[in-house]
Amino acid sequence: MSKSYNIAVIPGDGTGPEVTVEAVKVLKAAADKFGFKVDLTEYDFGGERYKKTGETLPDSAVEELKKCNSILLGAIGHPDVKPGILEKGILLKARFALDQYINLRPVKLYPGVPCPLKDKGPKEIDYVVIRENTGGLYTGCGGFSMKDTPEEVAVQSAVYNRHQVDRCLKYAFEYAKKYGKKARGVGEENTLALSGKTNVLTYLYDLWERGFNEMGEKEYPDIRRDYYHVDATCMWMVKNPEWFDVIVTGNMFGDIITDLGAMTQGGMGIAAGGNINPDGVSMFEPIGGSAPKYTGMGVINPLAAICSMQMMVQTLGEDAAAEKIEKAVKFVTGEKLESMQAGKMGYSTSGVGDLVAQAVAG
Ligand code: IPM
Ligand code: MN
Repeated sequence: MSKSYNIAVIPGDGTGPEVTVEAVKVLKAAADKFGFKVDLTEYDFGGERYKKTGETLPDSAVEELKKCNSILLGAIGHPDVKPGILEKGILLKARFALDQYINLRPVKLYPGVPCPLKDKGPKEIDYVVIRENTGGLYTGCGGFSMKDTPEEVAVQSAVYNRHQVDRCLKYAFEYAKKYGKKARGVGEENTLALSGKTNVLTYLYDLWERGFNEMGEKEYPDIRRDYYHVDATCMWMVKNPEWFDVIVTGNMFGDIITDLGAMTQGGMGIAAGGNINPDGVSMFEPIGGSAPKYTGMGVINPLAAICSMQMMVQTLGEDAAAEKIEKAVKFVTGEKLESMQAGKMGYSTSGVGDLVAQAVAG
């Protein structure tokens, strides 16, 4: 009997719905081709619903999401809603409530995609960032004191316990072992690099560094370990991206460096990500936002959403389908699109979705 997956779809705000439709189109083509079934349930969480009902992501919805196999998210963020409300109320709430403690963000330059880095191509830009996704500065520990006085103080702490660090490192080492450059036959060794700030954050990244070295020495002696300060990481991501294979880092640093990474792989139109709970329900979303100014125009690039869906398919264990979708995307970037930018692709949003879906079906 063929496998069947219950997928929750949250198209969200702005261009989220447009790109999600294309991701679903390709998902259905892959399901047909590779003989699995997808049962989709759509949820309308986002700015519009918030404006009407005041609701972001209700607890009852979290309970429903816990029962599905995976979640596909378009984008969250609405120009009429104060920044922070939807992000915290929907995106971060889902990440925390479903304990999606890994944010997996490939930095992969596909063929034909213009790269802003001089003399760098798909061979050089081919690594992943594993961002810890539920701790650190995102924990929400802090507050104000003496508010609205000249002496006002604000504190927001970066919090990690050893358990959080270790489970993230474990995922990262396992990932490097399975998908590192040696494992994929494109390099001499599998490398995991820790990106931190041990020269200043002498408590926080000391904890990470000890965990990293202890786990690496004991359990993964064959995986090469590198360490970079986060500022230097940014420098090398631009100057020598080929040095990287798998990077692991804390939540805030990971947020920042993956925007840089996204730019080096062709921009937000193509950058995909997954919020992963290795033992639970994961949620896949493009790194970019809801791009309100392009809403409804059919010009936004759906490849980031399609690539996020591809990561979902891989995480569900449908490896052959995932491989085919990636090939199809490479074909479309390499042979079809004129640009990755909204309005300049040479095709409409749905036109790009059609091209990928056809390539998957063919
Ligand atoms: C991201 C976003 C989010 C984050 C925001 C919207 C809360 O920037 O997914 O990278 O900071 O994690
Ligand atoms: Mn971000």
